[in-house]
Amino acid sequence: MSKMAISLAGAIILIAGAGLLAMTGASRGQSDGARAGDPALGSHVADAKCAECHGADCNSSESQFPKLAGQSPAYLYRQLWAFRNGTRRSDIMAPIAADLGDADMANASSFYGKQSRKADAVKDQRLAAIGERIFFAGMPACAMCHRASGQRGMPVTGMMGGGMMERMPMMGMMADAPYLNGQHAAYIVDQLDRFASGARPSSTMMGRIAAALSEADKRAVAEYLSGLR
Ligand code: HEC
Ligand code: HEC
Repeated sequence: MSKMAISLAGAIILIAGAGLLAMTGASRGQSDGARAGDPALGSHVADAKCAECHGADCNSSESQFPKLAGQSPAYLYRQLWAFRNGTRRSDIMAPIAADLGDADMANASSFYGKQSRKADAVKDQRLAAIGERIFFAGMPACAMCHRASGQRGMPVTGMMGGGMMERMPMMGMMADAPYLNGQHAAYIVDQLDRFASGARPSSTMMGRIAAALSEADKRAVAEYLSGLR
């Protein structure tokens, strides 16, 4: 393990620890808002204002539009806030989020959380196998915060990181990291680039982690995740 990897891992553990303490207070209010959302009302918002890009079944067919099906409602709600207040910059999503009230955001987030995510077909198995190693055994392992599967309660299988995560199931939940399984590979690479360049400054942890990945690593981990159910 290189010195750089060791100090990066140390920094992440410190930041993650501080984040957990800070979030127990701050983000509980947001997740409560999202939990209070009404999925039936949210489906009207989604059909009228979102389906055009995010897909009628909430699994968009074009890779620049993220799939929202099965995503954590608290995460979706937080992103809508970030688009609205400009901390996550998107010329497309900013006016759309500005047009939504808090209840619309909570309802839509709740609706999307209940839909099923469909994975893409992996195009390059060799690349995906490299990506699987990065996800479970990279430094740090993505699996430390991101769950390997959208199916709750399913054991994390695979490599090194898996066993450790089984014993620390709270970790990913408290950091409220989004589900990445089945997401479009091109969208994942694009977001990793934005974290790395500081264009998406929401998460200091993701900024450091993405900046430490090579272009080849980003493509590999994205290829693996896109096919993951
Ligand atoms: C005209 C196309 C378009 C429409 C309509 C649209 N979106 Fe988006 N949405 C996007 C794009 C593009 C992104 C990626 C933004 C980025 O990071 O550059 C995005 C990203 C998002 C994200 C972030 C997802 C993630 O994984 O981080 C959420 C949440 C979201 N949209 C919710 C909605 C909701 C709710 C609606 C309807 C009220 C909606 N969008 C309507 C294009 C659209
Ligand atoms: C220390 C915890 C942590 C680790 C480790 C981590 N992430 Fe994240 N990641 C997060 C959090 C928290 C967010 C949400 C940031 C936000 O709210 O904008 C996130 C967001 C993301 C997103 C944006 C998803 C979307 O829908 O827009 C991608 C892509 C991502 N991470 C990929 C990775 C990859 C690949 C790795 C491993 C190389 C990794 N992450 C490791 C915590 C982590």
